[in-house]
Amino acid sequence: MDGNGRWANERGLPRIEGHRRGADAVKRALKAAQENGVKIITLYAFSVENWNRPKDEVDALMQLLDRFLQEQLTELVKRKIRLRVVGRYQELPEHICERLSHVEAATAEFTDYTLALALNYGARTEVVDAARAIAQAAQAGKINPDELNYEQFAQHLYTKDLPDPDLVIRTSGEARLSNFLLLQAAYAEIYFTPVLWPDFDEKQFKLALTDYAARERRYGQTAEQLQG
Ligand code: IPE
Ligand code: MG
Repeated sequence: MDGNGRWANERGLPRIEGHRRGADAVKRALKAAQENGVKIITLYAFSVENWNRPKDEVDALMQLLDRFLQEQLTELVKRKIRLRVVGRYQELPEHICERLSHVEAATAEFTDYTLALALNYGARTEVVDAARAIAQAAQAGKINPDELNYEQFAQHLYTKDLPDPDLVIRTSGEARLSNFLLLQAAYAEIYFTPVLWPDFDEKQFKLALTDYAARERRYGQTAEQLQG
């Protein structure tokens, strides 16, 4: 979700106003996902690199997140959407961790729809965390390094209980992944749009889905093989 700051700048508003409107866009996207049968949506809400932003902005983002979780708890329960956190979330402020655990627990039983929030997330950090866990398991004699395959490796990623994404949407005209789900997105279709995140509405969501539907996913095979 990119472009909150530019959305605000263009209007002569403080960046935090852009983030506020970005939170509204999150609610719209969540609704659009469910209405269009998208069962899992992962939102890159805060990266490990985002700590480097000015303290005021980081504090404001955490406050917005706290309020979002507080507000959305009833909504998630009502719409039977499970919350999952993806990232090193123990390093987030304590009150946020508590709220996240609370919302996760309150929605844990839902199986049809999932909202995954990437918080304090970075793909490289995730790979290092996985490598460390695997090395420790190997040292303890619980796994045999010679037999390690990707499926086992992926069991140590934060996304271990989530399927790989089919579609990755990057807003605001940037054409990069910025350390987001680098392994999981290996075969994802990527959709770049110039639309700034606060302007990303249901119509934009549908445009992305239509674009995705027209793609041919070959997973390394030839087009002829897939037709056969
Ligand atoms: C939202 O947009 C990203 C986060 C919530 C951290 P940005 O804050 O990156 O917006 P731009 O890139 O300055 O426009
Ligand atoms: Mg940005």
